[in-house]
Amino acid sequence: MQSQRKRAPESAQIVVIIGTGGTIAGASGSATDNIGYKAGSLSVESLVKAVPALASRALEAEQLAQLDSKDMDHATWAKLARRVEEQLARPEVRGIVITHGTDTLEETAYLLQRVLAPSKPVVLTAAMRPATAIQADGPQNLLDAVSVANAEGVRGVVAVVAGQVWSGLELRKTHSYRLDAFEAGPDAGPLAVVEEGVIRRFRDWPIGEALGASLLPQDAAQWPWVEVLGSHAGADARSIEAWRSAGLQGLVLACTGNGTLSQALEQPVAALKRAGVPVWRTTRCAQGRIVGAVDEPAAALSPWAARVELMLQLLQRR
Ligand code: SIN
Repeated sequence: MQSQRKRAPESAQIVVIIGTGGTIAGASGSATDNIGYKAGSLSVESLVKAVPALASRALEAEQLAQLDSKDMDHATWAKLARRVEEQLARPEVRGIVITHGTDTLEETAYLLQRVLAPSKPVVLTAAMRPATAIQADGPQNLLDAVSVANAEGVRGVVAVVAGQVWSGLELRKTHSYRLDAFEAGPDAGPLAVVEEGVIRRFRDWPIGEALGASLLPQDAAQWPWVEVLGSHAGADARSIEAWRSAGLQGLVLACTGNGTLSQALEQPVAALKRAGVPVWRTTRCAQGRIVGAVDEPAAALSPWAARVELMLQLLQRR
């Protein structure tokens, strides 16, 4: 069900920039090294100061975390969702920008959209090169993200990278090195592009029902344990059995092609379902959905977004 919400009041002027780390805040000993750096080294204030065009904007910056996003964790997600929810409730706040690593950006974006479904813009941004690189991409991405957060009519959780605006529900990192490392799935394009600070929109902003940040436990141990398992040549069911006896609460299968599963996994998966553990199928293909899968809740999601969605559903059942 989709909700109708009020737009940001005219008085809303401030964009709050929340730093969580990532390559955008990464530093290397050499300006020519785009891969051997430490993510999450520089403060969010210093990232803002590095963009002179931001000096005239009404901004606040705060550091919530300083992580390489491969290490993003459930407790930080709970803290981030609560903080964003608090900041969005301030009438003077027009929108939020979150600086983040690219590696798990799609998971954080999906989570925040489902939990907050904000009527104001929440714009995640990132970089593929560290801030110390000769041609760092972070400053332009940050400037573009602030432009999107300031723009009229933008709503929902989106990501802005390399001049493109992606839906938080569709975003997928599909390249390990290129500056334009993101796509939208399944088979969806960007929502918009940012050109010299001006947004050219192609599709609607993400909307939905907010589950509320309080759904997310602050204690990481209270989150449901949901794993992703790939179906592949030579598949071996021992991992399913080990997870089941260790208390697994949900499983997402990254299936081959149009949602097919190796025969070796079929019986253990059926046993897991009989034991009451939800098992969702997704495709491990970078694009497309599981066509004809009427009863598969995650047929159109990536395995990573499906894992987040299944955790949210399990939390709602408590
Ligand atoms: C990270 O995800 O924090 C490191 C990689 C990146 O931001 O591109």
